[in-house]
Amino acid sequence: MRVLLMGPPGAGKGTQAEKLVDRFNIPHISTGDMFRSAIKEGTELGKKAKEFMDQGKLVPDEVTIGIVKERLEQSDCEKGFLLDGFPRTTAQAEALDGILAELKIELDAVVDIQVSREKLLERLTGRRVCKDCGSAYHVVFNPSEQDGKCNKCGGELYQRSDDNEETAAKRLDVYTEQTEPLIRYYQDQGKLIEINGDQPMEAVLADVVRLLGRDF
Ligand code: AP5
Ligand code: MG
Ligand code: ZN
Repeated sequence: MRVLLMGPPGAGKGTQAEKLVDRFNIPHISTGDMFRSAIKEGTELGKKAKEFMDQGKLVPDEVTIGIVKERLEQSDCEKGFLLDGFPRTTAQAEALDGILAELKIELDAVVDIQVSREKLLERLTGRRVCKDCGSAYHVVFNPSEQDGKCNKCGGELYQRSDDNEETAAKRLDVYTEQTEPLIRYYQDQGKLIEINGDQPMEAVLADVVRLLGRDF
């Protein structure tokens, strides 16, 4: 299964991706996660990406497209993949079409998770992430059992540096300007599945699985 997960910052892409890749046994490719690991490792890519991420802006297309191309060419993607947070610009979507054509494969579906702006800000500013395994929690909607500690691995929870109110608001604006037009792009390709993301996490997952199941 080859699927794209789209939706604004805080829509629940990462939350749903974690469950979907388990169920379908495919790799989870999140450009945001790839940039955050590069920052942690202190690589050149990380240094470059951090400049943009801290301002809530998109990392330049040529950098982002390069890392995704390299990742999709790895052998574990032959059985399928779940792309989370890529593409985010028309140039990225066109480049992805080119990469897929070269690999002689096609996307099965593009899942767009929709949530209103007010709810997104609340989700972003209340998110806490495990520094060891990357699992996401929310201080109100999905609190960890032990304050500040991950349920799964006991790792320390932290707040992403781009989850403060100002940067989060900027990310939502960037989404509207640069990424939202892609909904139309994939609608025109007949691949779009729209999901109401303003429901409990389990209900969102059930909708995604049901609608994907249509074709698999
Ligand atoms: P990235 O890491 O992809 O961030 P994002 O798109 O802004 O999305 P988020 O990860 O913030 O949200 P999510 O949808 O995964 O939500 P989550 O499941 O965690 O990108 C970060 C940055 O990297 C970008 O700003 C950019 O600079 C750069 N970048 C990345 N990709 C790029 C690209 N292709 N091109 C250029 N630059 C790129 O959930 C959020 C919170 O809500 C959590 O606390 C969760 O517990 C809670 N929650 C989830 N679902 C529900 C629910 N149903 N009900 C209640 N709460 C919920
Ligand atoms: Mg995410
Ligand atoms: Zn953890």
